[in-house]
Amino acid sequence: MKMLDKSKLLLLAALAEFSLGNNCPTGFEEINGYCLQFHAEVRMNWYDAAEFCVNITNGLGMLAKVDHGNTLRGIAEFIDDFDMKKSFWLGGSDESVEGDWRWRDDTRVPFGTPFWAIHSGLLVISAWDHEPSGGKGENCLLLNEERLYYFDDEDCSHKAHPLCSIYQ
Ligand SMILES: *[C@@H]1O[C@H](CO)[C@@H](O)[C@H](O)[C@H]1NC(C)=O
Repeated sequence: MKMLDKSKLLLLAALAEFSLGNNCPTGFEEINGYCLQFHAEVRMNWYDAAEFCVNITNGLGMLAKVDHGNTLRGIAEFIDDFDMKKSFWLGGSDESVEGDWRWRDDTRVPFGTPFWAIHSGLLVISAWDHEPSGGKGENCLLLNEERLYYFDDEDCSHKAHPLCSIYQ
């Protein structure tokens, strides 16, 4: 009987959490199962943004890792719903090894669709290609407002808003 009571309690707790629809710590948005924090109130370069996310999460988080198409779509919808219209830094960079894009936890950033923005080729007008295209001059990953919140490589000293995520 005691066991049954306990399992009922656990079930109630699970339902309560489910009905709140947010399994993330206070101050984080749950999007596609990820806990994210949009810092539209501050603007800084990529290095400071990376440090900012570690600071503000007490070491539990990092500049966001976004490696699912559904998460990226959810983020774009969230930014649109709240009418933020701002570009956010993500945790990707290829500064250590040109062309080898890595998140802060050293896992690989995916290439192509549905993540990276497309641009028209410089030499052949009719050819379309995915970002990144900035080579050694653009080593940091921006969720670019002007590119409808797809991935874009940007100069790391550019100022944008930190988008932090919890490690998971
Ligand atoms: C992060 O915290 C350290 C130590 O408190 C501080 O020196 C640094 O300025 C902070 N960085 C940012 C970007 O907030």
